[in-house]
Amino acid sequence: MDAILVTGGAGFVGLNLVEALLARGEHVVVFGREAALPDPAPSRFGRLPGRIEVIQGDVRDEAALKALFRDRRIDRVFPFAAVTAGPVREAADPQVVLDVNLSALLATLAAARDAGTVRRVILPSSAAVYGESAYAHALLDEATTPPVPITLYGVTKYAVERAGLRLAGLWGLDAVAARIGATFGPWERDTGLRDTLSVHLAIAQVAMARGELVLPPAPLPAYDWVYVRDLVAGLLALLDAQDPPHRVVNLASGIDWAPHAAACMDALAAAFPGFRWRHAEPGEAPTIRWNEVKPRGAMAIGRAADFGWRPRFAPRDAQADYAAWLLQGP
Ligand SMILES: NC(=O)c1ccc[n+]([C@@H]2O[C@H](COP(=O)([O-])OP(=O)(O)OC[C@H]3O[C@@H](n4cnc5c(N)ncnc54)[C@H](O)[C@@H]3O)[C@@H](O)[C@H]2O)c1
Repeated sequence: MDAILVTGGAGFVGLNLVEALLARGEHVVVFGREAALPDPAPSRFGRLPGRIEVIQGDVRDEAALKALFRDRRIDRVFPFAAVTAGPVREAADPQVVLDVNLSALLATLAAARDAGTVRRVILPSSAAVYGESAYAHALLDEATTPPVPITLYGVTKYAVERAGLRLAGLWGLDAVAARIGATFGPWERDTGLRDTLSVHLAIAQVAMARGELVLPPAPLPAYDWVYVRDLVAGLLALLDAQDPPHRVVNLASGIDWAPHAAACMDALAAAFPGFRWRHAEPGEAPTIRWNEVKPRGAMAIGRAADFGWRPRFAPRDAQADYAAWLLQGP
């Protein structure tokens, strides 16, 4: 059976993707820094019909990448290993961001080319490519909104799209770039390489501790979140498309979640009795650091719809589903 390679498969998005692939019976090869998947993934994934191999290694190690393709027949690739650097890491070690996010991704493509068995690559781009434009446009459209990435991370993600699609074309690989919106949900944890964890994770931690949360004053800044289960369904739609109608595709909810904050907090409170929340009064400090202070445009999802995908979870339902997952045992 042909295998699907997921580099960074033990990370947040990777684990959700791997779980969905195993659920549909695929053979999945996870390659990344981790020697094993974090608990409770091994037990949960072991009950799914697919087959998984977890291989520890560094995506900057070209010989290890080549060995992956030499030792098994890989026909689809998610080269998702990345360093999501915040400003401190960017300033301290810019080279690691470039090496992992861009050079290692291109080396993965080269190894896929040499294997000669790969029929689809999904390139991991990001809403971060919109950068400055996200604050200047109400709708972030793949074709008409200029990408003006601000962070080094955003710059590497734009380069992943452009260089990845260019080389895939030259090398006879079939690639689609997913501009992934800000994601939250099951399996998110601190891998030590993502400095921008979602505010949903921080809120969930307060809810699980049955504590009190003081949000920033209402209204919260406009922000488009995507629930990870929707995101993964979108990634699979890009993977499976026979004849992709687009090569760069936003995967996001396409809506502003700020007006849904109360419904989301209430869904958490229903799942975690004792959890209380409110907005800060004027002059009062919130107990949580919000992910964004300026309103951002929402991402257009028309191109993704051309792949037959649309988000299924309304914000409140996503929050309730996440809470149910957090309450689930191994
Ligand atoms: N989470 C989001 O909101 C979001 C948004 C846009 C795009 N993305 C993209 O999705 C992909 C996955 O991101 P995530 O949120 O799951 O991040 P994560 O930090 O949770 O996972 C990244 C994974 O990559 C692995 N990795 C990092 N450097 C490595 C190296 N040198 N060798 C081998 N493995 C290495 C890490 O160990 C980890 O398992 C990334 O490409 C990211 O840019 C994520």
